[in-house]
Amino acid sequence: MKILITGGAGFIGSHVVRLFVNKYPNYEIYNLDKLTYAGNLENLKDIEEKPNYTFIHGDIVDGDFIQNLFNEHKFNGVIHLAAESHVDRSISNPMEFIQTNIVGTVNLLNAAKAIWKDNFENKLFYHISTDEVYGSLNDEGFFTEETPYSPHSPYSASKASSDHLVRAYNDTFDLPTVISNCSNNYGQNQFPEKLIPLFINNIINKKSLPVYGKGINVRDWLYVVDHATAIDVIFHKGKVGETYNIGGNNEWKNIDLIKVLCKVMDKKLGREVGESEKLITYIVDRAGHDLRYAIDSTKLQKELGWKPSLQFEEGLEKTVDWYLANTEWLNNVTSGAYKEYYLKQYSQKE
Ligand code: NAD
Ligand code: TYD
Repeated sequence: MKILITGGAGFIGSHVVRLFVNKYPNYEIYNLDKLTYAGNLENLKDIEEKPNYTFIHGDIVDGDFIQNLFNEHKFNGVIHLAAESHVDRSISNPMEFIQTNIVGTVNLLNAAKAIWKDNFENKLFYHISTDEVYGSLNDEGFFTEETPYSPHSPYSASKASSDHLVRAYNDTFDLPTVISNCSNNYGQNQFPEKLIPLFINNIINKKSLPVYGKGINVRDWLYVVDHATAIDVIFHKGKVGETYNIGGNNEWKNIDLIKVLCKVMDKKLGREVGESEKLITYIVDRAGHDLRYAIDSTKLQKELGWKPSLQFEEGLEKTVDWYLANTEWLNNVTSGAYKEYYLKQYSQKE
């Protein structure tokens, strides 16, 4: 197998690259990444010298570059994770999301179609997506693979659009595709703009913890390594043309999760109980803030035999330990442009 993994220098992508490089020494793994603010080759230090691993620096929005790359390497599998992934950034700058998430995905589909068109056997285009395409739930119910799409943010709308295009290429051209839609991930190497690593970093630095609205929004959290193992299972056993939901069955109201995180941080940092909670600050709600996400992953569990391996408390503690042991990583990614982003995103909202 010659597999192209896009976005492999990002949070989830780096865990997928590591898993495939280590688990399948006979596969050739190519990691294509533009190295935006979210991409970091430090995430892959432990595997960068492996003989079955190659890094390619490039942009999926550049159609000619992508086609040439496919012509040159003749990949037989694609696992597509490259994306602009943060909802708040999609609100302030939607165009990047349209380019990377929609145009970039179509460039990859076109390139795969062009080189595979005479023989689709043993080829697979695997598109990694999010539960946010399904919209928002009230207090009851779960997203299943049949839930109609109803995205609300420019991010989720761009991911929904890319999902539709992947299905259209399967329906129209018979391109062998599979899609998975996963809930919120957490774990090591996540960029500190998303809730958990942002709050870990702020607690370390005794900065305020900006909770949007009343903190009543609910997310279903999955440990990133469990997402990577689900991707492995779906890539190898998933049925062409199908969609699989991936989730942790682990719902948390934001404010409850934040309070647990504060307790763990107080303990790990040797601070007085309750010290981190004092940093909680309620700020103006996110525009179009989805109330609740909750995934029903029965199909994946029953048909392909996947299940999450970690309980949330254990995963959260592991995550905190990693950030505390890797302050250099944190300091590197939060210097420079991060400061500008932070000021723009959070000033005047308290
Ligand atoms: P991330 O932002 O950490 O990483 C994205 C990676 O894509 C980065 O390495 C970046 O450099 C690269 N990239 C961005 N634009 C590119 C371009 N034009 N060309 C090539 N590379 C480019 O994202 P993540 O959290 O790891 O998410 C990965 C995928 O999983 C995304 O498709 C996202 O929609 C999906 N997803 C994420 C979550 C989550 O909780 N983070 C949940 C479900 C699904
Ligand atoms: P986030 O990690 O951005 O993931 P997503 O929006 O894709 O679910 O946010 C998770 C939840 O935390 C979401 O309900 C928004 C909330 N949140 C805050 O309250 N404050 C913050 O500073 C951030 C980044 C998120």
